[in-house]
Amino acid sequence: MTKKLLIATRNRGKVLEVESLLGAFPLRLCSLADFPATVDVEETGSTFEENSALKAQAYAAQTGYSTLADDSGLEVEALGGAPGVFSARYGGPEATDAERIDLLLGALKRSGDANRRARFVCVIAIADSQAKLLELFTGTCEGHIAHEPRGSGGFGYDPVFVPDGYRQTFGELPSEIKQRISHRARALQAALPFLLSHFGTQA
Ligand code: IMP
Repeated sequence: MTKKLLIATRNRGKVLEVESLLGAFPLRLCSLADFPATVDVEETGSTFEENSALKAQAYAAQTGYSTLADDSGLEVEALGGAPGVFSARYGGPEATDAERIDLLLGALKRSGDANRRARFVCVIAIADSQAKLLELFTGTCEGHIAHEPRGSGGFGYDPVFVPDGYRQTFGELPSEIKQRISHRARALQAALPFLLSHFGTQA
């Protein structure tokens, strides 16, 4: 049985992020780009845990490979944790990142504009080649929402998210910093010992 690990994303940026962190370790990785026939899995869960597990198990079942899947989003305290699992769909499936940011800033303004605390959350699920869920790992990145978008780096809500300890948004900070402190990086770091013990090679 092969010990190759499938990274369940079609997002090239995410593959690069995972490779840049895991590339230094003796793991054999592949991504959905290597499985063009797989059918996309709908994120029908109501938590990051449910959605990441759903994806890991469904792609493992489709490919027969052990699979790592993630689900992530932005939780804004004054909005009761919204947009949360709906981060990608906030404002409707057709909305652009800029429209989603406008909507978020408008909602914060209506909430009184005082509490701007927010966090990015990422949950990583790992399923084995039989599609059995093995483990879940969580990473968070705490910060606050800026008053207006700044910077053109990153994606999604990056231009309005200021991580704790910095004055710039993720849109302004160098990508190396985001790759070190992001919710995804932290979830991957938490998963690393497990990944090495289960999927590491002697190479
Ligand atoms: P998913 O994990 O690909 O489903 O991501 C859900 C959504 O959360 C994305 O479409 C973005 O809107 C938002 N999001 C997740 N991670 C980030 C990030 O690192 N920066 C900015 N937005 C993010």
